[in-house]
Amino acid sequence: MADVPSTPQQPLPDGIVPEDIVARTENRWLVVMVAMLGVMMAIIVVTGIAGALHPSSNVEIVDPLSLHLQGEFVESNLGTALEPDGTATVRIIAGQYDFIPNCIQVPTQTPVKFRLTSPDVVHGFLLPSTNVNTMVVPGFVSEVRTSFPAAGEYQMPCNEFCGLGHHAMWAHVTAVPKERFANLTPLERTSCAAR
Ligand code: CUA
Repeated sequence: MADVPSTPQQPLPDGIVPEDIVARTENRWLVVMVAMLGVMMAIIVVTGIAGALHPSSNVEIVDPLSLHLQGEFVESNLGTALEPDGTATVRIIAGQYDFIPNCIQVPTQTPVKFRLTSPDVVHGFLLPSTNVNTMVVPGFVSEVRTSFPAAGEYQMPCNEFCGLGHHAMWAHVTAVPKERFANLTPLERTSCAAR
């Protein structure tokens, strides 16, 4: 019995980590991962509630092949229109690789409804610091409602990868005081000129 080693642990070859240490490390990382998942879920829920982010309110289909020929997305109907009830509707086509129209003026302190669609692939429409963030999917109309409390400029990036020109797919939304907006001609409402 004197030959039996006093420690049960056999020396392991170089670079081999004992099983119990591996298990302990794996458990530690499992806890870290679950904690990270918990934090990310919490961020999604909190920002979703606080920022009023929500899926689009309706499912509306449209023929992507005939957008330019008929219906509300014909060229003459794009841009910002004032409705009889005082609200504004902005119609935009997001296509490879531009928003049409590229520059958009909207009135401040007015309910604004964005209606977008795509003739080709999926694009993304996002106005930083607002609740506007939607995918633009061919065959569907994406509708987002918001309002602009103060005048200001918004850079508008495409935020879904849509091809080689994706990085250059930017446009501008300018919120102008509502009194001034009322005097703009339809052409001025889609003007890129600084004001
Ligand atoms: Cu359009 Cu990315």
